[in-house]
Amino acid sequence: MCYAIPGKVKLIKDKIAIVDYFGEEKKTLNEIKDLRVGDYVYAQGGYILQKIEESLALKILDDWKDLFFELKEIDASLLKKTDVVNPKLQKILDKALNLEGLLLEEQLYLLSLSNKTNLSAFYNTANNLRKKFHDNSCCVHGIIEISNHCSQNCHYCGISNVNKDLFRYKMSLDEIYATVKECVEVYGFKSIVLQSGQNCGYDYKELAVFVKRIIDDFKIFICISFGEIGVENLKLFFDAGARGLLMRFETSNQNIYKKIKSLSNFADRIKHLKEAYRMGYLIFTGSLIGLPGQTDEDIINDINLAHELKAEMFSFGPFLPHPGTLLSKEPVIDSDKMFKVLSLARIMCAQDSKILVTTAFETLNKEARRNGLMSGGSSVMLNLTPLKYRKFYNIYPNRAHDCESIKMQVDDVVKLLQDLGRAPTDLSISQGLSES
Ligand code: 5AD
Repeated sequence: MCYAIPGKVKLIKDKIAIVDYFGEEKKTLNEIKDLRVGDYVYAQGGYILQKIEESLALKILDDWKDLFFELKEIDASLLKKTDVVNPKLQKILDKALNLEGLLLEEQLYLLSLSNKTNLSAFYNTANNLRKKFHDNSCCVHGIIEISNHCSQNCHYCGISNVNKDLFRYKMSLDEIYATVKECVEVYGFKSIVLQSGQNCGYDYKELAVFVKRIIDDFKIFICISFGEIGVENLKLFFDAGARGLLMRFETSNQNIYKKIKSLSNFADRIKHLKEAYRMGYLIFTGSLIGLPGQTDEDIINDINLAHELKAEMFSFGPFLPHPGTLLSKEPVIDSDKMFKVLSLARIMCAQDSKILVTTAFETLNKEARRNGLMSGGSSVMLNLTPLKYRKFYNIYPNRAHDCESIKMQVDDVVKLLQDLGRAPTDLSISQGLSES
């Protein structure tokens, strides 16, 4: 994971380059042919995106220097270790901190906790592990929902093709270009997810040429999220320069999968994720928490599956019933369950993954972003979809941030990260941070 500030190349060996950030070294993949040791670069998601002029790099680093260490101090000062009275829990949390794998029954026990002190101890343990392995970096990705057309009929999803009441939109390439330009040039985004429903009507060849153009013009990390597009199209976008794939497997329980995604096949979806990984994509995946019939054991299997799929980032979010869907009458989980899932994912996969605090979780609980980042979470995603379209990407009702401009969202996240002592990766906001 690399910071959204210039780093200095320390070593190059084949395609691997080691990049230094104020003494912290990060391993990156380099595809720039004339890169030399001593060059300054921007790297995101473990990829070198571009070289940058030494004088400019030094100026940015000079602005950042004090802040870089100040944030680390704030983060460290917020770490807590709650003493637990319950010896059984204490033993499990000690095992977790020592990275001794937990037994299934211990994982289930953590998901069953309800007492406030015990829950705090659990969340704090996850936060300690986050700090230990990921330090204070926090990914800030942006997502542009380019179209809400969808050929699927997922029973949980408000943009499923059975929802005939929804206004459908498809952004033109010019509109997407203008949105990306604003996000990069005005707000400093370095990593953007392009998302749509499945088979939403773009010509993939044309879209891939467009993706190459925005990567060439803006030197950003592009993650695609267009559903199951097939291996050929994955290759098309990879060749165009896309390096991330966001696609949840939704649930690891195949019986539930069959019931809620009748036009899709579980094995095909997993194969798709595996093929993408083999091709070289970074995988962002996860599941819905609180689906009808889902057990705690299923949730543990979900975490294990995301891990097996070598996910760079875990995306677990609550299922929120949408009135226009077959699952409209199903109950919603309580927030504690979701915090427990984030913390358990951090404990089970402490070293590997970034863990996203999802917008769905923020919709369920207003404090989810702050508290999720204090319970093992290490990543957030801002909605960059033009406001006139956002409300139509209506996967569930009352989405958090649906009416907030990009500026409002960036200002809020900058303030929160500063409060929590987290350094943003993927969003270049040194100016904003030092000014606020
Ligand atoms: N509640 C929460 N998340 C949902 N998604 C779709 N419908 C819902 C819902 N009702 C999520 C799915 C999908 C992502 C784009 O949105 O997990 O992968």
